[in-house]
Amino acid sequence: MLLVVGIVLLLIMRKLEKSVPLKIRKYTKSEDEAELMQMILDEDGWDYADENLSEKYKSALETSITYVAYKNNVLCGYSRSLQDFGTYIYICDLLVKPDYRGDEIGRKLMECIHKDYPDCIVYVMSGVDGYYEKLGYKRVGSIFEL
Ligand SMILES: CC(C)(COP(=O)(O)OP(=O)(O)OC[C@H]1O[C@@H](n2cnc3c(N)ncnc32)[C@H](O)[C@@H]1OP(=O)(O)O)[C@@H](O)C(=O)NCCC(=O)NCCS
Repeated sequence: MLLVVGIVLLLIMRKLEKSVPLKIRKYTKSEDEAELMQMILDEDGWDYADENLSEKYKSALETSITYVAYKNNVLCGYSRSLQDFGTYIYICDLLVKPDYRGDEIGRKLMECIHKDYPDCIVYVMSGVDGYYEKLGYKRVGSIFEL
């Protein structure tokens, strides 16, 4: 019985959480840096907050096209992209906090870029091909590393 009540409460909380409006805006160092770097630190496999990279990454957040997504004053996702001569945009990073996944925050962060840069062709440095295919992106090439 207690388990059922717990599950129902959880579902209600989840529904309420979904109804909280999502706010997406451009990144500012003073407002977002600390929370964003903490989110990266908490994410398995993301090393930008490691000692040897963090200062360079903080500076990249400011010089890139960086969006942050907030729900209830909690930074729950971000994207970082680079623009090339006003024509191409390369999405480098997209991350949504685990508890907030599945609520279209990733999709909305991606949509922001298309909305704000409608004349640019958008490329993605994909780590999750299935996800970008789901969003309608088409495979057009490969990345080489040396
Ligand atoms: C990938 C990620 C950004 C998705 O964010 P999200 O806000 O949970 O995704 P959305 O809610 O916008 O999902 C949109 C659709 O994609 C699907 N989807 C989500 N993650 C997926 C994945 N890894 N593979 C395939 N499809 C996926 C969802 O089920 C949803 O489908 P629906 O429209 O049929 O319901 C998030 O899972 C994440 O931060 N992962 C870790 C970091 C990462 O891999 N980043 C991307 C590489 S840089």
